[in-house]
Amino acid sequence: MSSIDMNKLGSDARGARARAYAPYSKFRVGAAVLLDNGQTVVGANVENASFGLTCCAERNALFAAKVQHPAAKITALAVSAGDDSHVHDGERTRMPCGACRQVMVEFMDLDAPVWIDGVGVHRLADLLPSPFKL
Ligand code: THU
Repeated sequence: MSSIDMNKLGSDARGARARAYAPYSKFRVGAAVLLDNGQTVVGANVENASFGLTCCAERNALFAAKVQHPAAKITALAVSAGDDSHVHDGERTRMPCGACRQVMVEFMDLDAPVWIDGVGVHRLADLLPSPFKL
């Protein structure tokens, strides 16, 4: 964990916010995942006029990484929520949603670090203590 540059990954997540397609909520989210091959894959939230079809930044980054680098392990994730002008409601509007936490567990170790803009770094296991597993 100490060899991972979480600030660099966080900066990539911030940069990815610009790629969000969020015309309905106007709430831009960027995410970045680090792979054990050293590569980074970013994602952003993509909304739809049928609101329930929206997909979060974290899942878009995780799914893209899994498809583009099937043999690689995802070692860390960073997420940055809201425009710079957004007034956050404490930590609540910065935290990854429950669905994305479950998807993180599918592809990342429970010890993996998750960088959350404005909050800090959490272990995945602390974000989702009792994940569903088959
Ligand atoms: N959103 C994310 O991208 N990640 C999260 O963890 C929570 C919410 C997006 C979905 C939607 O486009 C917007 O933020 C408002 O909910």
